[in-house]
Amino acid sequence: MSGNAEADGGVETTARGIETQTASENGGAPSVNARPIAEGLAGVVIAQSEICEVNGERGTLSYRGYDIGELACHATFEETVYLLWYGELPTENALRTFSANLAAEREIEETIWRILTALPCSVEPMDALRTAVSALSCSDADDGDRCLNSNIEKATRLVAKFPTIVANYYHHRQGEPPIHPDPTLSHAANFLHMLHGEHPTDMAARAMDMTMLLMAEHGFNASTFAARVTAATLSDIYSAITTAIGTLKGPLHGGANRRAMKMMLDIGDVDQVVPYIEEALARKERIMGFGHRVYKSAPDPRSAYLRGRLYELCAERGDFHLYELATAIAETVEAKKGLYPNVDFYAAPLLYLLGIPLDLFVAVFAISRIPGWSTHVMEQYARNRLIRPLSAYVGPKDRTYHPRHER
Ligand code: CMC
Repeated sequence: MSGNAEADGGVETTARGIETQTASENGGAPSVNARPIAEGLAGVVIAQSEICEVNGERGTLSYRGYDIGELACHATFEETVYLLWYGELPTENALRTFSANLAAEREIEETIWRILTALPCSVEPMDALRTAVSALSCSDADDGDRCLNSNIEKATRLVAKFPTIVANYYHHRQGEPPIHPDPTLSHAANFLHMLHGEHPTDMAARAMDMTMLLMAEHGFNASTFAARVTAATLSDIYSAITTAIGTLKGPLHGGANRRAMKMMLDIGDVDQVVPYIEEALARKERIMGFGHRVYKSAPDPRSAYLRGRLYELCAERGDFHLYELATAIAETVEAKKGLYPNVDFYAAPLLYLLGIPLDLFVAVFAISRIPGWSTHVMEQYARNRLIRPLSAYVGPKDRTYHPRHER
């Protein structure tokens, strides 16, 4: 064979860029083209992980062995970030110190602010966040340091600064001055304060906190996997998180919450739900906020907790319209298509009631998911192997090169 053997062994790249593999390199396994293909890697287990267990058959989810329901009802977002990074729940003192360290990192440097305000207002919040995170690496002298302590420091910066970047880029786009973070507030309450310029009610802060907690981690989802692929090349954490942000923004992943909300606003009234869903399904459209790659036979466990919080928020406001509308949509989609709501569905009206503008919905998912991403990047470094799957080549073969003037 011509070409150079790659580092992951057994695979060679020919001069035409076509991968071939011999039976001996392959340990007697069938050649690449004869192997079954797992489109979209569905059902493929690619690594062991101690971070989170997603059980699609039973519809359960746990972080570090703690059921998501227990955490949603009793823990805070900060406590959950500690649990994800350190593997154990913090003591009272440890949590106080940890929360103070996070709060102390909320301000963004002048350089980052200058970069954000230099962006045209047409730039979407997720693109601005991706740009800012990439730029944050430039003010970190040890950006390539992959040891655990250094990465916890970097992850602290990232978790703390995400809300500041998102809220103040929003104000920039609105032509408004930035709002400084308030270190006396919790992570979730501070985000709402930075968006709205006033302290949120306890109910609103708790709803924001729980939404972030429920979205903080979810195994090898697309953005986390993308972050791990980048980390597995031994690139730095900022690069891995930048990759994750780019992956999350797609409509089949984080982008679904905004579209789910748009659908609810389009439908408007409960009596329009059935015809709207029937027509969308007849057009073979995907109903945003429904279906899941892993939760196929049981509902996404996060959606019940989000629905409960939505009910409470509606009760606080004395207006159940959005709760009734969302419930009617969920019942209709389940009846007509057998699909359950995923995390994005009930999160959408919740964020809407919290006064979060629609074009920040995906960025709120990123603010919530950065703890999970960073934990996975650290786990990847701790037991690294380059992630490098194969493809079965189905393009033309054995073609003859003709000089340009003969084509
Ligand atoms: N609406 C209508 N039909 C659907 C939907 C949906 N939301 N989801 C799946 N289907 C149908 C799909 O059309 C296909 O039907 P058929 O076999 O007749 O062609 C069947 O269900 C299987 O779909 P699939 O695309 O093979 O399933 P998947 O496991 O690859 O996709 C998914 C999972 C989440 C991409 C998909 O359910 C979807 O597109 N949902 C809407 C977008 C969404 O809500 N995304 C958020 C996912 S959860 C949070 C996150 O990870 O970001």
